Amino acid sequence: MLRRVLLAASRSGGVRKAMETAPFSRGVVHRFVAGRTAEEALTVVRRLTGGGLLVTVDHLGEDTTDARRAETVVENYLELLDLISTAGLGARAEVSVKLSAVGQALDEELALENARRICAAAKAAGTAVTLDMEDHTTVASTLRILRELREDHPETGAVVQAYLRDAERHCAELAHEGSRVRLCKGAYAAPADVAFTSRHEIDKSYVRCLKVLMAGRGYPMVATHDPRLIEIAGALAVFHDRAPDSFEYQMLYGIRPAEQRRLAAMGSRVRVYVPYGGEWYGYAMRRMAERPANLALILRSVVSG
Ligand code: FDA
Repeated sequence: MLRRVLLAASRSGGVRKAMETAPFSRGVVHRFVAGRTAEEALTVVRRLTGGGLLVTVDHLGEDTTDARRAETVVENYLELLDLISTAGLGARAEVSVKLSAVGQALDEELALENARRICAAAKAAGTAVTLDMEDHTTVASTLRILRELREDHPETGAVVQAYLRDAERHCAELAHEGSRVRLCKGAYAAPADVAFTSRHEIDKSYVRCLKVLMAGRGYPMVATHDPRLIEIAGALAVFHDRAPDSFEYQMLYGIRPAEQRRLAAMGSRVRVYVPYGGEWYGYAMRRMAERPANLALILRSVVSG
């Protein structure tokens, strides 16, 4: 129930504005968000990569409703990729992009062109893009855009949300040679006709998807903090004789950092999803919906500034 309320609040424009213009919460910055600017994000990226982790950097923002704003988002990504390139971090730092931030709701063609520009800049920086997956109503469009992007940029990563009833089919279609696929549980509100709604069903779907991806020829990116699923992924990798560099674990910045370091110390590839920017509200609300204990942390830091 609380999860549904928090997810509904995450899409509320009015609350978003009020929260984002409040003094930037130090708790949020330090716990879940790497700062407001690309330079601040890069400081975090250097620290994480210096400690043996990989990163994927996300410029926070979603649900863009005008083309000028979408253009600003593209420019933010180009600036970020320039910094990554100059720092020589292309081999360890990729970027994650939300198509809704680059104009998907306005015009699919515009979002495709904007994403193409980010993919080209990523390639020039020696790295790649992964397309985040958002609300279930955008999945078909995101997969269409992914197919187009992969014509020129086959390294572009896809995301499958295990809570979707179609997830296993999506994994089967994406588990081909050279295909980078991030598997996550799914963070948005979705109705029961398209998504599993109980934790148990979602976890079972996650395992079915893992089996398809680990048996396939692509590069699975196991995005979860769930200890049981991490263990199952490791066991499946052994079962399928996968080399340690043929798949990776992914976790969010600020969540289970000790586990991130433990897996990396054991020789696994571990990538941390590092968000930065002023539009932190939707992202933070989804983290609260996953774990309402975070609500107190975020509210406290917003109030104290
Ligand atoms: P689950 O929520 O069951 O948590 C398992 C355990 O992890 C908890 O018991 C707790 O210990 C810890 N934990 C989990 N969330 C926490 C939190 N917020 N705060 C503190 N502890 C927490 N979703 C999506 O719809 N589209 C996308 O593109 C992505 N992209 C993405 C990238 C990466 C790298 C990750 C890790 C996740 C995503 N997600 C996502 C989010 C994902 O769908 C999911 O909502 C979260 O990862 C939480 O689910 P878990 O698999 O961690 O399990």
